[in-house]
Amino acid sequence: MNADLIARYSAPVPRYTSYPTAPHFHTGVDETDYRRWLEENSQGLLSLYVHIPFCDRLCFYCGCHTKQVRRYDPIATYLDALNSEIGLVAKYLPAGRKVAAIHFGGGSPTIVNPSDLMGLRQTLAANFEIVETCEISVEIDPTHVDAEKLRAWRQFGMTRASVGVQDFEPIVQAAINRPQSFGETAGVVNVLRDLGIGSINLDIVYGLPHQDREMLLRTIDLSLSMNPDRIAMFGYAHVPWVKKHQSLIDTATLAGPADRFAMAKAGAEAIVGAGYQPVGIDHFARPDDSMARKFRDGALRRNFQGYTTDGAETLIGLGASSIGRLPQGYTQNIVATGQYCQAISEGRLPIARGFALSDADRATASAIEELMCNYAFSVGDLRARFGQAADEVCNDALHASFNEDGFVSFDGDTFAITPQGRPFVRTIAAKFDHYLNQGKAKHSSAI
Ligand SMILES: C[S@@+](CC[C@H](N)C(=O)[O-])C[C@H]1O[C@@H](n2cnc3c(N)ncnc32)[C@H](O)[C@@H]1O
Ligand code: SF4
Repeated sequence: MNADLIARYSAPVPRYTSYPTAPHFHTGVDETDYRRWLEENSQGLLSLYVHIPFCDRLCFYCGCHTKQVRRYDPIATYLDALNSEIGLVAKYLPAGRKVAAIHFGGGSPTIVNPSDLMGLRQTLAANFEIVETCEISVEIDPTHVDAEKLRAWRQFGMTRASVGVQDFEPIVQAAINRPQSFGETAGVVNVLRDLGIGSINLDIVYGLPHQDREMLLRTIDLSLSMNPDRIAMFGYAHVPWVKKHQSLIDTATLAGPADRFAMAKAGAEAIVGAGYQPVGIDHFARPDDSMARKFRDGALRRNFQGYTTDGAETLIGLGASSIGRLPQGYTQNIVATGQYCQAISEGRLPIARGFALSDADRATASAIEELMCNYAFSVGDLRARFGQAADEVCNDALHASFNEDGFVSFDGDTFAITPQGRPFVRTIAAKFDHYLNQGKAKHSSAI
């Protein structure tokens, strides 16, 4: 594909894990709103996202809300607050709410020691009805976990594991401060399999410092040899204005848009060539995996963790920085762990900001989620669901359909992204974003 076109479509835009996106959340949504939203939440299954913002190491490329710790004390203090937050949230929710999915993200949730983990399990069980089929997924840093910890997570109820690979090349690992051998990574995957974890995902990143196409393909080959059920291949998001430690990465060692595009394409071809089905912009799954099936059925969803098979209408965020999605709108907890713990100690819900959705926002959010998941949406469906509130997004579809690059089609009902346009879905989705140019948010490259 021509370099000018790639550069034009690589302009920074959000990854659309929500609409409006997090930079547009504001302090106008506060504890009183959140409490009311919880009290009104009486229907459907719940999903929980639990954030553990600690790591044993600090990888220079990392874009997550986390910090490196050398002692366990701050983790223990944080877990006390987290247990209290669970009790507080459950107090406001109508009694007996059922939880169908719990995702542990970070940071590195596996930093928690087994006895504290069991304490957390008891708190969750005391405050919610965890359904027997509950999916419990955990993000794992394979260099700082052992069989005992993994056994504790299994006992906790872990059903899915996501293991961070990123890249196996020594020159790339040195530049991102993330030494990690293939042997230790494969060892963790083997222990997870022996424990009966039926679904294992590996995270790979392209566009890292010094990385070229051949290096990425070698990392993919090694990853495929571990036979994962899913692979996520993310484009490196270089946002040093948000994550200061990323300034330790020399920008001269980063690939430009055309090379990033070529890497993403070659990587996807290698993974698909090994029998995986592409799912959305950055996921691949074995054809019999639930994510691949949901994608084929048009039932894939997208939330703050990325693509998900979880269809719950309510996602409760627990822990510092975590984001929740309730039918009324979004909430985000305080990011700084000290202030988060302080709010909890005062008996307050630790919300920092949020966004109350209008019906027009909901219509646009639905169209953008469908584009990100299915590369298409129906204007007729939006009108049936949202009535006049869908007017704006339907007009946007008409405007966006005038695309001289041949990346979209519109027959008056279905607005679709053509196969050539799919790598640019974020840029096309941005055409529907009414908040994009408001505020000071700066995003990462769209490729
Ligand atoms: C919380 S981390 C994973 C768990 C664990 N801490 C680890 O590093 O293995 C979640 C994932 O986000 C992705 N990620 C982190 N920072 C990123 C960035 N700046 N750009 C793209 N992907 C990133 C990585 O693939 C990483 O595995
Ligand atoms: S990539 Fe994982 S281990 Fe590294 S700093 Fe980020 S969350 Fe921690």
